[in-house]
Amino acid sequence: MNEIVLYSHLALGLALLAALATGKIRAWRGASMATALLLALTGAFNFMTRMSGAPKGWHAGMGIKVLLALHVIGMVFLITRSGADAVKAARWRKGALVSCVLVVLIGLYFSNMAR
Ligand code: HEM
Repeated sequence: MNEIVLYSHLALGLALLAALATGKIRAWRGASMATALLLALTGAFNFMTRMSGAPKGWHAGMGIKVLLALHVIGMVFLITRSGADAVKAARWRKGALVSCVLVVLIGLYFSNMAR
């Protein structure tokens, strides 16, 4: 069960990264918002199941990862729901893309290299 949720989180994270990188967040608004919400839910589950036996620096790393992830999720909601003009939405997308790359790298590091 824990593994399934972790791999689902990985797949959702890569899907959101791809949507941000290709500029498809607005075109796929329903899927993007559902993905962002599921990332928050599966992330909270992983947080509880992966905490025991956490490697050195895990809590600090996860703190930074969760803050950056909330930035990504917030921006996805703003891009899809705010009705902002294209220039502003493009700026938000770039910021969210940078944060999302960092979130994926931190997640992969703690999940696969630090343990
Ligand atoms: C934009 C949103 C997010 C993205 C793109 C993302 C991405 C990732 C990725 C790629 C991994 C590695 C998975 C693997 O190797 O199988 C991961 C792991 C993880 N993520 Fe996320 N994540 C996001 C949001 C969150 C949130 C909101 C939380 C917490 C509330 C969270 C908590 C975790 C935890 C605890 C792990 C496992 C770390 C470990 O194994 O020690 N993530 N994440």
